[in-house]
Amino acid sequence: MNKLENLVSLCKRRGFIFPGSDIYGGMSGTWDFGPLGVSLKKKLMDEWWRYFVDNRDDMYGVDAAIIMNPTTWVASGHTATFADPLVECKECKSRFRADKIADGISESVTTEEFLATHTKCPVCGKENWGPIRKFNMMFSTHVGAVLPEDTNENPEFVEKNIAYLRPETAQGIFTNYKNILDTIYPTIPFGIAQQGKAFRNEISPRDFILRDRECSQMEIEYFVHPDTWEKNFEKLRILQHDFLENIIGLSAENIHELEVPAEDRAHYSRRTIDFMFDYPNGEEELMGLAYRTDFDLSNIERASGKSMVYRDKNTGESFIPHVIEPSIGVERLFLAVLTNAYTEDEINGEKRTVLKLPENLAPFKFCVSPLLKNKPELVEKAQEAYKNLKTKYINVTWDDSGNIGKRYRKQDEIGTPKCVVIDFETLENNTVTVRDRDTTKQIRLKIEDL
Ligand code: GAP
Repeated sequence: MNKLENLVSLCKRRGFIFPGSDIYGGMSGTWDFGPLGVSLKKKLMDEWWRYFVDNRDDMYGVDAAIIMNPTTWVASGHTATFADPLVECKECKSRFRADKIADGISESVTTEEFLATHTKCPVCGKENWGPIRKFNMMFSTHVGAVLPEDTNENPEFVEKNIAYLRPETAQGIFTNYKNILDTIYPTIPFGIAQQGKAFRNEISPRDFILRDRECSQMEIEYFVHPDTWEKNFEKLRILQHDFLENIIGLSAENIHELEVPAEDRAHYSRRTIDFMFDYPNGEEELMGLAYRTDFDLSNIERASGKSMVYRDKNTGESFIPHVIEPSIGVERLFLAVLTNAYTEDEINGEKRTVLKLPENLAPFKFCVSPLLKNKPELVEKAQEAYKNLKTKYINVTWDDSGNIGKRYRKQDEIGTPKCVVIDFETLENNTVTVRDRDTTKQIRLKIEDL
């Protein structure tokens, strides 16, 4: 098994992540987070919010609706351009994203360029391709009382009632920019942040949670004076590294910046740096930092007829702000954290798997257990310690299953930094053993010093 397969297996075995709709045979590109996964995911999102919003004076949060007025996606350019190059194998009818199965081509690949790569179909091995077609990745739905016969017989009705699940959280920020100006009166530069679900009908979801059809994004639109975009781009670039390395604990050597060439940038971007991460199956995009200019606000101004102008209270200057956007997917961050933490080592000749999660992210900080579960006096004392710790740290778990060795293995696998064991000595002198996950070293401490 490679490392990704090991991670998938650990996530399922220990209740981090299950395949979506597993019970009915699954739903490709969707994943369900179990009790431990939800805990880790929430901690990642909370750390991000604390770092980029709560701890700063220049950031404001929003939580916008997922289904937005369809004009949003016309104005943003997504209706026209949010498309991937789809290619179909004429032999077995499998469909692929062309730039993901051929080497050395970009998302803007033409049919001729693709055919020149002489790529074989990953499913049937033949080389008999149809033309490249642009496939729009937005999921569409209908809003209001729409009957099947309406959609079959009346294209105009369908057109009028069609809506999309948002493909990025960013537009919920841009469409609230004016609300924030009119209610909070922020001073430029300032950012608006949002966390939430985004939906993309990916042609080939893959690599576990790396490319999903339903994902969660954490995005900031940072509004700046046009003359200062470079300075602010740099400021945000440094902040991303600080967050990823010092708050989330990713090792810096696994993060690589990629200056995205013009032909590969999104339609709205004049500069993009992709932060690439060394995932188990190779280097992949973890997050992006884009200079979106005034593309979005100017389009919204045109489409809505409402002014997006910011008036500087100090200089009196009026202008449409330019925007720097750091955007990260929670699932990609989650997978980076797991990749970073997953370790196999050997302790006293016995192999073990351990998730070396930073303490601020581990689902549980402590596991408390009695040495033997059939000794009521140990269980009672352990319960007392458990309840005390839980009032202090919340993320404390109880485990009295199997023998103590098995419990350690389990807690190592789910990343619990410290295991507290109540034994017979505890009854005599009120001390407990505390075992460290990474070193497996044990120390004795007084209960009240825990
Ligand atoms: N608002 C800008 C935007 O959405 P993007 O590069 O398309 O830009 C930003 O997406 C981030 O969202 C990516 O770097 C990635 O972390 C995450 N992301 C995008 N599509 C994803 C998918 N299908 N599955 C998981 N994460 C995804």
